[in-house]
Amino acid sequence: MNDSPATARDRLIVGLDLPGVEAAEAMIARLGDSVSFYKIGYQLAYAGGLALVPKLAERGKKVFVDLKLHDIGNTVARGVESIARSGASFLTVHAYPQTMRAAVEGRGGTALKILGVTVLTSYDDADLREAGYALGVSALVEARARLATTIGVDGLVCSGEEAARLRTLVAPRMALVVPGIRPAGAATGDQKRVMTPAQAIAAGADYLVVARPVLGAADPKAAADAIVAEIAAARP
Ligand code: C5P
Repeated sequence: MNDSPATARDRLIVGLDLPGVEAAEAMIARLGDSVSFYKIGYQLAYAGGLALVPKLAERGKKVFVDLKLHDIGNTVARGVESIARSGASFLTVHAYPQTMRAAVEGRGGTALKILGVTVLTSYDDADLREAGYALGVSALVEARARLATTIGVDGLVCSGEEAARLRTLVAPRMALVVPGIRPAGAATGDQKRVMTPAQAIAAGADYLVVARPVLGAADPKAAADAIVAEIAAARP
């Protein structure tokens, strides 16, 4: 079995897509007890945001470091060791065989979970052809998802649409983490394939990643509470 989140609140991951540590700290203070899990991606990480990982962990929050690592095996393994020591709970790597094996070696027996990114959701079949791949998106997603299971990766990041199919393909222990979530009526922004929280849970998502619908709300805490309530009422 995967390390299933205990409560509806633990299944919401709020993406701190903000320009700096000060803005992130202000948002974390506003969200208070409403959010227990945060994601730090490129924008905040490269503005000093990785220093927040141990601080949030000390305050009892979980942190998803979304750096989508990909390099030679030794570099990936040593980088993952450092991220594991920082107290992070989730880390993304691109779902290439060497990279996933190195990441699993680097996390060792620590509490860090490695998530594979199969094919970036901004890629379609034509983008893959241009990049030199013979397989289309769905075949490559499936092949990499199977490989991730075999290698011992802990979960996958996928779209809501992919979640239902992947749930039947990968080991039950694998966590499915789904971005592109929009509560009914929220602006979609640049996300093309969106699902409501309830739809994503019904499709088999274990965790939902949400940034703009929370960060951009007039009352971010109320927006987070509403998503948690929708998760709690959803049927898997
Ligand atoms: O603002 P929004 O809710 O669309 O943000 C979604 C978050 O999830 C962003 O941090 C984005 O980088 C991330 N993400 C995504 N699609 C993926 C992987 C990650 O939107 N396939």
